[in-house]
Amino acid sequence: MKIGIPKERRPLERRVAVSPETVKKFTGLGAKVVVETGAGTSCGLTDELFQAAGAEIASDAAGAVGDADLVLKVRRPMTAADGTDEAAMLKSGAVLVAGLDAVQNADQVRDYASRGIVAFAMELMPRITRAQSMDILSSQSNLAGYKAVLDANEYFPRAMPMMMTAAGTVAPARVFIFGAGVAGLQAIATARRLGAIVSATDVRPATREQVMSLGAKFVAPDIEESGDGEGGYAREMSDAYKARQAEMTAKALEKTDIAITTALIPGRKAPILITADHVKSMRAGSVIVDLAAEMGGNCELSTPGEVTVEHGVTIVAHLNVASRVAADASQLFAKNLWNFLSPHFDKDSGELKIDWADETVTGTLLTRDGQVVHPQLKGEG
Ligand code: NAI
Repeated sequence: MKIGIPKERRPLERRVAVSPETVKKFTGLGAKVVVETGAGTSCGLTDELFQAAGAEIASDAAGAVGDADLVLKVRRPMTAADGTDEAAMLKSGAVLVAGLDAVQNADQVRDYASRGIVAFAMELMPRITRAQSMDILSSQSNLAGYKAVLDANEYFPRAMPMMMTAAGTVAPARVFIFGAGVAGLQAIATARRLGAIVSATDVRPATREQVMSLGAKFVAPDIEESGDGEGGYAREMSDAYKARQAEMTAKALEKTDIAITTALIPGRKAPILITADHVKSMRAGSVIVDLAAEMGGNCELSTPGEVTVEHGVTIVAHLNVASRVAADASQLFAKNLWNFLSPHFDKDSGELKIDWADETVTGTLLTRDGQVVHPQLKGEG
């Protein structure tokens, strides 16, 4: 049983899909783990650390994944159009486990099927209690929420906490968080730790208590409507709700120094919560950090991947924010993969024997026996 881990080659990607800890665990099961040289360099994990944990180091990607039975990656393989056809290196029958952005890349899923790859999309992990420890969206969003506050701080020309000094009093920063899911709640906690006064909003009623328990104020538009969608996610709101929410936002932003937006709706473009007019109404020197940039952004004026200044307001729309905390992000991502895969290893033979009926398997399995099998993508195959 060979497990191959290539270096991530997508731009801005600093993470790696295994840690020395998970290498040790996989080798403990009897597997041979082969890591491409330099795969962990950008997050401080040297070849020597992986070797000490029991991995072999391959001099290139083909050496790591070429004849691997299981390939672990952070991001979906690059395609010929991206400059390197990474999936072409995998053998037929290989199991690929990664964040594959499958729903947005149906063509690539068909390609995995035609190559005989058994592909698992970790982003589709069902949100059941047992799968919490396997949830890459959750582990990575948590770090992104933390980093968003630090990114805001970098561009904010004032201090976060209240300071009483002999020269005068510095007022605390007022932070408003849009979307109190995993990233939003961590952003609240981080901003509070830095001494800011924090408010937050969300469309799912359950978040009210979670926000308040972190010492922040919960703010909601004056309209009865629940945003609870399927599987713990939000759904799109009515036009009436959106209109009230826009009014609420205008009022809230008048007093806001830093806005952090994290609102997502699965499989859709992110909802616009901060319009151009809202930005115009903010005080010069304010900062918006748009964590939804990858999905188009929650702020109408965000330019995904860039930091821009509009009407005196700095809008930070970094992509792949978890990768900006690459060492911890890799460690947690690697552990998510381990938690997902380890129950499927046969203890005696050390081989992967997937329980095809397991809910975490049926929820994430995209392709098998040359077919696209995932319910969300089957029609596409
Ligand atoms: P997400 O990243 O899809 O969305 C972020 C937040 O934005 C959500 O709280 C959502 O309600 C909110 N939102 C969406 N549209 C909005 C709008 N128009 N205005 C304001 N807010 C809006 O969600 P995330 O953070 O990944 O998780 C959502 C929930 O799922 C959380 O309660 C979390 O605890 C739960 N969860 C459960 C897991 C499990 O049981 N295995 C694993 C991970 C999360």
